[in-house]
Amino acid sequence: MMPSEGEAANLREVHHVEVQSLMIVQARELDSEQTYKLLTGVVVPRPIAWITTQSAAGVLNLAPFSAFTFVSTKPPLLGVNIGRKAGVRKDTAVNILSEREFVVHIAHGPLVEPLHASAVEHPPEVSEVELLQLQTAPSSHVRVPRLQAAPVAMECRLHSVTPYGDTGSEFFVGEVLCWHVRDGLLVQGKVDSFELDPLCRLGGPWYATLGQRLHQTPHAQTAKTVLTRDG
Ligand SMILES: Cc1cc2nc3c(=O)[nH]c(=O)nc-3n(C[C@H](O)[C@H](O)[C@H](O)COP(=O)(O)O)c2cc1C
Repeated sequence: MMPSEGEAANLREVHHVEVQSLMIVQARELDSEQTYKLLTGVVVPRPIAWITTQSAAGVLNLAPFSAFTFVSTKPPLLGVNIGRKAGVRKDTAVNILSEREFVVHIAHGPLVEPLHASAVEHPPEVSEVELLQLQTAPSSHVRVPRLQAAPVAMECRLHSVTPYGDTGSEFFVGEVLCWHVRDGLLVQGKVDSFELDPLCRLGGPWYATLGQRLHQTPHAQTAKTVLTRDG
């Protein structure tokens, strides 16, 4: 719908922002580490997938991943980008490839210390879950246990793995088979973000919880439907 004249004037008013002077950085002049610093500073704040996986030998692994998003609603698909350490796959990637399942948790503010600690590089036979003395509970659709302390846990089955770029990064997509949501958080199908209190990742050594909220009237949206075979 076209905005009325009054609304259009209002939009012009709202969108009048001062012109800033911008520095130009040529992407091809940056190496992978420099690009990482730039990307993780500007793609912020990032949600964090706190992932449990199990190795073929049965070791329960835990690590955080902030290159994280959802990619589909039907089926529900989550995606995380997992890089490599000097060309070698991280335990999480190895475990997902071998066992084809994982659990994605959303951590809230009080979990910042164990979440951060779970990113320390340990050999595959060391369980970060045991090391950090985190309680687990059995999952219902996958063999990988979930963390009890997290307000949200999503049991996933591997959907696909897509390699990107020259450093061996891989985008892992998992189908959510089952959601665990803390009692009282899911009200009429919606989760109040402030009640959830999710931890997010900023550039450098910084995390954040949610700050000021800015309300905008939602737009009317055409329903998402499942496509027919011919699209
Ligand atoms: C908050 C946070 C977010 C992270 N996000 C990512 C990410 O998106 N992709 C990645 O490969 N590593 C990421 N890391 C680094 C991994 O957590 C780290 O390499 C970890 O040791 C991997 O553990 P694993 O070998 O047990 O899988 C992140 C670390 C932190 C602290």
